[in-house]
Amino acid sequence: MPTDRRDTIAGGFTETASEYDGAVRFNLEGAQRLVLSIPPGHYDDVLDVGCGSGWATQAVIDRFHPARVTGVDPSDGMLDQFRAKRGEIAGVEVSLVQAGVEDMPVEPGAFDLVICSMAYHWFQHRWDAAAAMARAMRPGAIIAILCSGKGGEQAYRDVIADVEPINYQWLGAFDGNLRGVSEMEGYLVGAGLEPVDIWMERRVRYSTVDAYMERMRVVAGHIIGDPAAPEVAGWLSRVEARMRERSGPRGWTYEFNKLYAIAKKPS
Ligand SMILES: C[S@@+](CC[C@H](N)C(=O)[O-])C[C@H]1O[C@@H](n2cnc3c(N)ncnc32)[C@H](O)[C@@H]1O
Repeated sequence: MPTDRRDTIAGGFTETASEYDGAVRFNLEGAQRLVLSIPPGHYDDVLDVGCGSGWATQAVIDRFHPARVTGVDPSDGMLDQFRAKRGEIAGVEVSLVQAGVEDMPVEPGAFDLVICSMAYHWFQHRWDAAAAMARAMRPGAIIAILCSGKGGEQAYRDVIADVEPINYQWLGAFDGNLRGVSEMEGYLVGAGLEPVDIWMERRVRYSTVDAYMERMRVVAGHIIGDPAAPEVAGWLSRVEARMRERSGPRGWTYEFNKLYAIAKKPS
């Protein structure tokens, strides 16, 4: 399976890894809510796919106290951020593996719980990704996925559709990344899993242009390009100007959707 695009995405996350925890603090709370939605149980062996700097792993450890966690991520920079926190994680064996969901070297049927927080929308092959995660699960195991949901970020999409030259790559990235409930159901059922609960959370966030642009730079730097390059810098400043024009009394206000899914591997 071609991994060039995967490596470009992972390289983007490596570039901004040291800023991730600061700029995308909301993902920590999302990971915590995802983990709170997992059915109560005993989960000794946990796999965190697209583990990044380890937020979802930490939430699982806090709630379920597993014996072993394997974190998989193709970004060495994100894994370095995770490694730096490992000293704070006591009583759990944490193994970190640099790989993608496409080629993760994990034992089939070895995990009681698979989590995947804010990474699924970056996977290039969603059906294969669901199948790979399902293979790693024991019969009766649970999978919990959180990703960006369809229909969100319209305010920003409207801005970039209005700034020239039109950035088709950026506009297309939203359509390529964002998925809905029925699509998620299809991925899970296609992988032989039984959906337990799938839901979309629609939120409105009151932010600032600066904070929003910082978040975009940190999670989607590989799409934006080098902000030091004059043509990228010029485009970004036109985008920011348009966002400021469209900001209201509560700053830059935008809607976004989060898609959550819990499913079970039949016993
Ligand atoms: C937004 S971060 C989420 C990190 C963490 N799970 C969290 O909740 O904060 C997305 C992560 O997905 C990883 N990723 C991108 N493509 C991937 C792939 N094909 N397989 C596994 N992980 C991938 C990125 O390297 C990045 O660390």
